[in-house]
Amino acid sequence: MTLKCTILKLWHLSVPACQVLALQVSRPQAFVALSMCLVLFSCNALLSNALDTIATDQSIRDGENLLSAGGTFELGFFSAGNPPKRYLGIWYKKITTRTIVWVANRVAPLADASGAFRVTTHGSLVLLDGNGSDIWLSNAPIPVRNPVVQLLDSGNLVVRDAEGSDPNNFLWQSFDYPTDTLVAGMKLGWNRTSGFNRHLTSWKSIDDPSPGNFTFQLDPNGYPQELLKQGSDIKFRTGPWNGLRWSGIPNLNPNPYYRYEFVLNEGEMYYRELLNSWVISRMILMPNGMLQRFTWIDRTQGWTLYISCPIDQCDNYASCGAYGSCRVDTSPVCRCLKGFVPRFSQEWDILDWSNGCVRRNALDCEKDIFVKYSRLKLPDTQSSWFNESMNLQECEVVCMKNCSCMAYSNLDIRDGGSGCLLWFDKLIDIREYSDYGQDLYIRMAASESALLPSHQKKHKLVMGLAVSFGYVFLILVLTIRVLQCKKKKMKLPEGDNCENQKEDLDLPLFDLSTVAIATNYFSSDNKLGEGGFGPVYKGVLRGGQIIAVKMLSKNSRQGLHEFKNEVLYVSKLQHRNLVKLLGCCIEEEKLLIYEFVPNRSLDSFLFDPTQREQLDWSARFNIINGIARGLLYLHQDSRLRIIHRDIKASNVLLDCEMNPKISDFGLAKSFAGNETQANTNRVVGTYGYMSPEYALDGVFSTKSDVFSYGVLVLEIVSGKRNRGFHHPDHDHNLLGHAWRLFTEGRSMQLLDKLVQNSCSTSEALRSIHIGLLCVQRCLNDRPSMSTVVMMLGSDIELPLPKEPGFFNERNLLQENPSQSQPNEITMTLLFAR
Ligand SMILES: *[C@@H]1O[C@H](CO)[C@@H](O)[C@H](O)[C@H]1NC(C)=O
Ligand SMILES: *[C@@H]1O[C@H](CO)[C@@H](O)[C@H](O)[C@H]1NC(C)=O
Ligand SMILES: *[C@@H]1O[C@H](CO)[C@@H](O)[C@H](O)[C@H]1NC(C)=O
Ligand SMILES: *[C@@H]1O[C@H](CO)[C@@H](O)[C@H](O)[C@H]1NC(C)=O
Ligand SMILES: *[C@@H]1O[C@H](CO)[C@@H](O)[C@H](O)[C@H]1NC(C)=O
Repeated sequence: MTLKCTILKLWHLSVPACQVLALQVSRPQAFVALSMCLVLFSCNALLSNALDTIATDQSIRDGENLLSAGGTFELGFFSAGNPPKRYLGIWYKKITTRTIVWVANRVAPLADASGAFRVTTHGSLVLLDGNGSDIWLSNAPIPVRNPVVQLLDSGNLVVRDAEGSDPNNFLWQSFDYPTDTLVAGMKLGWNRTSGFNRHLTSWKSIDDPSPGNFTFQLDPNGYPQELLKQGSDIKFRTGPWNGLRWSGIPNLNPNPYYRYEFVLNEGEMYYRELLNSWVISRMILMPNGMLQRFTWIDRTQGWTLYISCPIDQCDNYASCGAYGSCRVDTSPVCRCLKGFVPRFSQEWDILDWSNGCVRRNALDCEKDIFVKYSRLKLPDTQSSWFNESMNLQECEVVCMKNCSCMAYSNLDIRDGGSGCLLWFDKLIDIREYSDYGQDLYIRMAASESALLPSHQKKHKLVMGLAVSFGYVFLILVLTIRVLQCKKKKMKLPEGDNCENQKEDLDLPLFDLSTVAIATNYFSSDNKLGEGGFGPVYKGVLRGGQIIAVKMLSKNSRQGLHEFKNEVLYVSKLQHRNLVKLLGCCIEEEKLLIYEFVPNRSLDSFLFDPTQREQLDWSARFNIINGIARGLLYLHQDSRLRIIHRDIKASNVLLDCEMNPKISDFGLAKSFAGNETQANTNRVVGTYGYMSPEYALDGVFSTKSDVFSYGVLVLEIVSGKRNRGFHHPDHDHNLLGHAWRLFTEGRSMQLLDKLVQNSCSTSEALRSIHIGLLCVQRCLNDRPSMSTVVMMLGSDIELPLPKEPGFFNERNLLQENPSQSQPNEITMTLLFAR
């Protein structure tokens, strides 16, 4: 060993020497020198192969290293602290910034560079100081004949028998003794047989590897969850695992490069991360108690933050006390859950929330009911009970029977939910998310039945029956009216255009790796939002071009169909008011790569009280015109002739000059030149924008797009959503309201107050009038897009609109008001015909 190491050191010395020699000395000498260098080089190559393993007769001295076979990790001595002390550790070899992932002698540093490291004949690892006394010792496992120590390419330092490399037979491994860093493949959690617990402990400071105050570990009480603790105080709780991620880390979404796994069986419970082999990423518990995941980006030669928690005030453990719920976007952040009141209202009012809330009405065991609360981080599960095979109904029954059972929920949210989780104590540490949260059913007094949403109540109240009859009647009436509208309806077989057209796509294919690097491995920082069929990321290609990447979510049931659809259609469309597709990726992950449209979608301006100001009248009129031109192109001028089927504010993107671009062609259908109308059994679209004949009967045509356009025009003019619109005087939605004002000659009152000053009255009146013409109930009454474009651009007299379709649709389709917040998820209705 000593010989090899001497050669190695010589090589290190000779690298600059080689270059110097080659440059400066005359030719014959240079030849000799270079040959020497080459000899040394081959030596080194041999050595670095050999140097991932040492046997009992060898040791690693300060200054020498073990290098894993693929060259990913290196083990050796490093300095930290002031005055500097020496530690034995493992770091990334290929990364320029020295990043330590594991330290052996955290509590017993070496004072000088006299340390040495070796494996004893019993299979223990020892670190010796200059005097030969061991200052660090790995626990002695069962003895083997011929132990060796090896640094694996995963970063795991293992002791094994020289003959066997089966991971199950490792005598000792550093992965079992994590310090502050979790790298891919490490288990964080328990061996339930032996009670052995692998957890993270922070460094004392950035420069001091000795154990700090923070730990991150799997809590085995109740249903397991990870707890971040300072000493014995809980600082942050990940919440229980829901099959996809921790309930309290909504950003932890799997993607092709990161997969997360939680294993719970008889023998073990642990969490681990599995990465694609060429991604370099680590999770670290920082000395300040922040848990952060970094990814190495070659392009910038730096670590990028991928996920960080706790992220906000609401992540602080139990910040709102028992039965309090935390929302970052409200002020104050804490409020009591519905049906609860502050325990001490004076305290609560001065923002001391620690004592939480109590029930407004006391429980009465047998008579109690369960009320559903949505979009939550599930409460602390330390005193919970679970069963993986029970369903939600069985779960409710079990919870109902035991009076100390306070709440229940599904254990796993995948595939519509499964498993049962029950809580047997006060519910603490609840927060509400704007999306991604989970449903929780809380035990409440029977007198709180007003909190039940209508569909939960129905079977309990006779009145519910009457209401249902009302709905049926309304649907019948509307269907009949629609049928009356249809004078000559053409029945077309529904063909799957996408699959039938086997034309070649002249669309560039992108490598998954190119897109991954462009989007920092689909990091949550790069996420722009969630579209109908999956997340959308922003990215920068190597050349500097900014792109938007739409990823087909694996959980989306209709996704693949729509993906193909979109590739097929959008690749052939070119218009300044349509978003441009640059390419796609059809490897293990299905991606669409678009030009990046800087200003996000129209709804993020139009329905946001502060952003809305940015849209003055001329911008709005420009948008109304642009969308009309884009739709005209789709309906008439493009080669394909396309019905978009999902025109809505969130599918209109705005570029930096606020020009609209229609996006999301996932639901689009092409139609042949002479067809104008078709039928489908699968009605897809968005409530509030769907025309009556389409929503109720599955008939779609260019005129259903015209209807949606009309809704959009009225929304742009008024700055209000059609869906969720409320007016104190009547029960109509936005269409009904606009119609009412129009018939009373008060159309200008529909106009958004914010544009009243910048507005041209004639343009505004014309827009409202055209909007109302587009949303007429009978499709034959609605103008075509070419007429709309013409009407917008000239002063010709407009016909009088008839009554709009669905003007009080709210009563019909919004069964469950608590759930129908303005989230514009595309809905699919299946019609039994
Ligand atoms: C070695 O032992 C001597 C005498 O006990 C002590 O002074 C010295 O600090 C020790 N050196 C190391 C590196 O521990
Ligand atoms: C858990 O520990 C027991 C006892 O030490 C051991 O036999 C078993 O192999 C361990 N289980 C796993 C999965 O490592
Ligand atoms: C760790 O805890 C101790 C005692 O509670 C405290 O004095 C010290 O400042 C803490 N250190 C850090 C880094 O928070
Ligand atoms: C879980 O529920 C199933 C079905 O109800 C039952 O057969 C099983 O015994 C339960 N498991 C436990 C641990 O209670
Ligand atoms: C209710 O559940 C708790 C916790 O599992 C248990 O200790 C208690 O015995 C149960 N009570 C009844 C009446 O089953």
